[in-house]
Amino acid sequence: MENVRLFIPGPVSVREDVLEKMTMPQIGHRTKEASALQRRISDNLRILWNTKSEILLSTTSGSGLMEGAIRTCTAKKAAVFSIGAFGKRWYEMGKWNGVEADLYEVEMGKATDPDEVDKVLATGAYDLVTITHNETSSGVVNDLEKIGAAVKKYPNVIFCVDMVSSAGGHRIDVDELGIDICITSSQKCLGLPAGLAACTFSKKAVERAKTVENRGFYLDLLQLYDFIQKKDYQYPSTPSLAHMFALDYQLDYILNHEGLENRFDRHQEMMHMVRAWAKKNFDVLAGDDIASRTVTAVLNTKNIDIAELNKELKKRGMMISNGYGDLKDKTFRIAHMADTTPEHIKELLDNMDEILGLK
Ligand SMILES: Cc1ncc(COP(=O)(O)O)c(C=O)c1O
Repeated sequence: MENVRLFIPGPVSVREDVLEKMTMPQIGHRTKEASALQRRISDNLRILWNTKSEILLSTTSGSGLMEGAIRTCTAKKAAVFSIGAFGKRWYEMGKWNGVEADLYEVEMGKATDPDEVDKVLATGAYDLVTITHNETSSGVVNDLEKIGAAVKKYPNVIFCVDMVSSAGGHRIDVDELGIDICITSSQKCLGLPAGLAACTFSKKAVERAKTVENRGFYLDLLQLYDFIQKKDYQYPSTPSLAHMFALDYQLDYILNHEGLENRFDRHQEMMHMVRAWAKKNFDVLAGDDIASRTVTAVLNTKNIDIAELNKELKKRGMMISNGYGDLKDKTFRIAHMADTTPEHIKELLDNMDEILGLK
């Protein structure tokens, strides 16, 4: 298989040393070592998210925990705010799980209006709200400080945040923002292969879940929570220990070698590089005030053939992403996340200049 560097917004290219950890000899999942491993990962994710909440790990992609969250913690009705493809997914999950939910959408390229969140929650109809922090389909980031301030006015509302494509690339202080459940996947900014997801689970979420009768089974977050309390961080089902080994190693790298602030700064630097290039040669979908730190959707103002561009890039060992859904061919996306460096971004942009004759 060719080794192509992925500038797509997940899965990302994974460092060799991280990949190697996945081939470590298996251990029993009911052993002290497994407890210690999963406890260490949880402790380190608490540092990453600046939270005292419990952490739940799931051998699913992020969608698993999203589905679990909306089903486990909605007693009355969920208000789903969508700014693109992944917000809408949360609504579908509610619907197909028999959870009452309403969808509040904005057009692609825009962010959720905190005043709208306030207005919607003020109706008293909802006891859970979902927000996408970083919308991967449009490259828009929501202002969680302002949205969080609005949600805090409604103490009965469980605040769920999809941080699938931002956790590990963009600082988020979960407790300060009043987030009850924030969710991420392994294959984005954390820089691992897909197959593992993690979320925070606040005491308030625990109490709410106890009032919800029909929580399902595998993705019942309360069952996971109760089990890990009783069994010292072991899970009811067999987890992907290969992912756990790699995540444990990668979290140590992120926190103790690269450093969180350096990592967040690196993501921001790459965002600036890509946006400067995009503005010079094309345009960007998201305005500067709502620009994602981890992925940029470039407006295809020159009407280039994106499939053809990717074919040429692939010959040079690189790959970008076409636009998502309706934005296919109208935009293309460049991810700048995980262990991608400014040097990698420079190399990509230089090659795109060359291929597109932009220099
Ligand atoms: C913002 C966002 N939310 C949710 C998802 C779904 O996550 P997963 O593919 O890990 O289930 C994705 C995947 O790309 C995403 O980008």
